[in-house]
Amino acid sequence: MKRAFNKKVLKTIWREWKWIFGYIRRYKQTIFVYIAFGIMASVLSVGGTVASKYLIDAVLSGDRTVLWNAAAAVIGLMVAQILFQALSERITAVLSTRVGIELRNEIFSRVVRAEWEKIGVFHSGELLNRLEGDVSTVTSGVINFIPSAFSKALTFVLSFAVVLYYDRVMAFLALLSAPFFVFSSRFLVKTIREFNKESREMNGKVLSFSEEALQNLQIIKAFDLLNQYIGSFRQLTEAYRTVRLKYEKFNILMTMVLSFLGMLVSYACYGWAIYRLWNKLITVGTMTLFLQISGMLTSSFSSLASLAPQMVSVSTGAGRIMEITRFEAETDADRERAEALLAKADGGVTVDVSGVTFSYRNTGRDVLRDITLRIAPGERLAVVGRSGNGKTTFLKVLLGLLHPSSGHAALHVAGETIDISDSTRRFFSYVPQESLLFSGTAAENLRLVKPDATDDELMHVLGLVCLDDFISARPEGLNCQVGENGSNLSRGQLQRFLIARAVLRGAPIMLLDEATSALDPGTEARVLSNIIRDDPKKIVILTTHRNSVLAHCTRVCDMTAEGRLTPLENKTIPTFDEE
Ligand SMILES: Nc1ncnc2c1ncn2[C@@H]1O[C@H](COP(=O)(O)OP(=O)(O)O)[C@@H](O)[C@H]1O
Ligand SMILES: [Mg+2]
Repeated sequence: MKRAFNKKVLKTIWREWKWIFGYIRRYKQTIFVYIAFGIMASVLSVGGTVASKYLIDAVLSGDRTVLWNAAAAVIGLMVAQILFQALSERITAVLSTRVGIELRNEIFSRVVRAEWEKIGVFHSGELLNRLEGDVSTVTSGVINFIPSAFSKALTFVLSFAVVLYYDRVMAFLALLSAPFFVFSSRFLVKTIREFNKESREMNGKVLSFSEEALQNLQIIKAFDLLNQYIGSFRQLTEAYRTVRLKYEKFNILMTMVLSFLGMLVSYACYGWAIYRLWNKLITVGTMTLFLQISGMLTSSFSSLASLAPQMVSVSTGAGRIMEITRFEAETDADRERAEALLAKADGGVTVDVSGVTFSYRNTGRDVLRDITLRIAPGERLAVVGRSGNGKTTFLKVLLGLLHPSSGHAALHVAGETIDISDSTRRFFSYVPQESLLFSGTAAENLRLVKPDATDDELMHVLGLVCLDDFISARPEGLNCQVGENGSNLSRGQLQRFLIARAVLRGAPIMLLDEATSALDPGTEARVLSNIIRDDPKKIVILTTHRNSVLAHCTRVCDMTAEGRLTPLENKTIPTFDEE
């Protein structure tokens, strides 16, 4: 059982490293150069040690030619080593910033391109955590780990070869600690991996918690939850500390055992070298060579061993990135056709929904059931129905944000048919129910959907939603700040602003999800009749709980608790108590 678990862990690590290598393949050349520098540094340092043996022997024997040559070699190798060190540091810096930035960009685009339905399962704090923390772990790991693993391994092999060449017993002594590592490696990898996972997850929780708390600061204050939240935050961070300390203890123990082993090996080599020197079996130069090399051997061995935690944490980070990049991406595959049809959409668009059934993956309950509906150009459809019956879900299916489990939704444009997908979103203007703005000015927020819109166009759409006076009264006019999430506006102003943006987009279908719920009936009526008059061919699909809205609609349908859409001929919202 235990073995099986370890095997699984090792397999996962293998898969994660394969992903990393797949990703960094494009930096092959730079990494290769860097490794070559590392190798040079190893060769130089081992070479320097060998040269100093000859230097000492020459001093003791009084051979001048060897002396000068050896001295020149020692100095030359030392200088070269320093130069190579500097060069490789420079390359690391260049490479690590590039890999880091590109990896972050790529993962960001993968995450935002992922199907909304699937990526939405993750808390945004957790996504941020992976985008920041795990990406930098992987980047720095790749940059430091791969080259240093190469050069450490090479230093080890080279120094071992030198020892083996001069003295086999010494080589054997130097390897004394190896069996310990081989025996303990599985246990180490498993423990380190668990710690890494635990601490990354905890970090995600802390991030998610603080993000949510900051976003809901108003609620926290209003409900007098400040102490509770501060306490919860402290608890979360305390838990983090406990995990951290547990691991540190493990780490310290590990280092102690390693140092102890290293000391044993060093003294064994030292004793052996003194014994050989005493018996005049080796020269003083060889003795110093042995001492230096055995030091190198033990240190490169233990730094190889200390690469294990890094290897594991890089791989854990990679695994967590893979988790959020594995989803199918929205690639706007039907873009060309959608754009061509949109250009021909002057005569209006027909929405054709047939037999659409939808359920959220995590619940399995059908929220929409067998919905069939055809909406002609210029129609204004109101979808009413009790809260939670599926009105918003229906709009999201039309937008291609959610995918029907069965049935089919399409648009008919100029005699052609195009299936609903991410590519057909350009046919829609959407005002979501829980909508917010981006931080920035009014003009910036509006131009998001039409970058080349003139100020006149902006004022025109603001006029349609009765906000032109409000904006004109501001000293900065269109350049007034609307604040993070539109916090400088009242709820009703925010809703009208969002409608203005949707109108500015100029798409043939407009989806309004309870988008006028915060307006007084008078303003609501004016706004609705304005946008209808502005483009009579436009389809407007809106959801509402207010009878006053229905007067502006050509058709009213009820979203029932079973998720069916049934027409209401009398155009009044049923009083649900009587249902
Ligand atoms: N992301 C989701 N995952 C699972 N269930 C959801 C999700 N979003 C909404 N639901 C459920 O789907 C049903 C319909 O929700 P919604 O379309 O928002 O209702 P309405 O807009 O009519 O008030 C509700 O029962 C709600 O709990
Ligand atoms: Mg809703």
